Amino acid sequence: MLTINRRVKEMLGSTTLAITARAKELAAQGHDVVNFGAGEPDFDTPDFIKAAAIEAMNKGQTKYTPSIGTQELREAIAAKFLRDNKLTYKPSQIVVSCGAKHSLFNIIQVLIDDGDEVIFQAPYWVSYPEMVKAAGGKSVIIDTDAKSDFKITPEALKKHITPKTKMLILNSPSNPTGVMYHKDELAAIAAICVAHKIYVISDEIYEKLIYDNNEFVSIAALGKEIFDLTITVNGVSKAYAMTGWRIGYAAGPLEIMEYIKKYQDHSTSNPTSISQAASMAALKASDDTIEAMRKVFRARRDLMLKCLDAIPSLSYIRPEGAFYVFCDFSKVGNATSIAKQMLDEVKVAGIPGDSFGAPNYIRFSFATSDERIREGIKRVGEWVKKYGK
Ligand SMILES: Cc1ncc(COP(=O)(O)O)c(C=O)c1O
Repeated sequence: MLTINRRVKEMLGSTTLAITARAKELAAQGHDVVNFGAGEPDFDTPDFIKAAAIEAMNKGQTKYTPSIGTQELREAIAAKFLRDNKLTYKPSQIVVSCGAKHSLFNIIQVLIDDGDEVIFQAPYWVSYPEMVKAAGGKSVIIDTDAKSDFKITPEALKKHITPKTKMLILNSPSNPTGVMYHKDELAAIAAICVAHKIYVISDEIYEKLIYDNNEFVSIAALGKEIFDLTITVNGVSKAYAMTGWRIGYAAGPLEIMEYIKKYQDHSTSNPTSISQAASMAALKASDDTIEAMRKVFRARRDLMLKCLDAIPSLSYIRPEGAFYVFCDFSKVGNATSIAKQMLDEVKVAGIPGDSFGAPNYIRFSFATSDERIREGIKRVGEWVKKYGK
């Protein structure tokens, strides 16, 4: 009989992928599907980044690189951290991996032992609980709601800390809510983590997609003590429309990063050499190159919110970043079955909130055109009117 490793056996499949697969299947059958399921920018990777990849190939940069990424790329990442985040990391403290997802997986594997507790909030990004399971750790989930703007309060954090707490995962701006933690909120969280010696993973993958003049703050920049406990994670996927290139990176205390290096040495080795060259071009360029994409996302967010405002039974917290609106369907019915029914009946794909630990919600991504946003939310409104309770 087939026996599977206990930790892997307990891992859940991805509902995000299941809904997206069903949406694709319906589209292939000729249906006009509006896909609000996307977790990636719909823009093409900018041409200058592609050109850098082609140049790298032509120059023969098609061989193994150091497992943690080239020295040049790690220098460019260190410069980015200093420029954008006021963080001083040496290239030796940086590990480049195959996407931020891979960086997060590595960190959790390296720091979490059987029974260690990892705190994060619900709604959460779908992979956090599964990564913790894969390491044998225990997820301790702090429920947040619209009343607290989907943020962890210092009081709630303190209540969830036990002698087994090893780590807190923060994600700002957040997938799925788009909510951001501001400086004073991060400072309060940092003080608690320092007092209890809890490591922090700061998942900053949506850093460049921020609207309404909000200031992005890295928790590690708030003082030496929190800097020494934090591993900062970022990548090129969302900011530069480079999801398929698979480059993410992490920076933190040298001792931890050396273990991550060892772990990566024996698993993936280096991320693709060509993608590393492309990412270096991306990170060295000025933000003007991605500003145009950000502006389009902001206009789309405003459009989606305006369309949703015309449906009185739905509510949301205004997203300050990322490209998602997390919509409360509790006045309409069971969000998990509504997401399935809406896809089958009016061909609109949204991701049900149960995958993010918030079962009354559906996540709509606005990484699609204005026309699709208008059409899709119109269909949602019609469906809600006809079938909602
Ligand atoms: C919150 C969050 N973190 C990390 C990632 C991973 O990004 P990537 O592996 O493409 O760098 C994603 C992607 O959806 C995300 O939403």
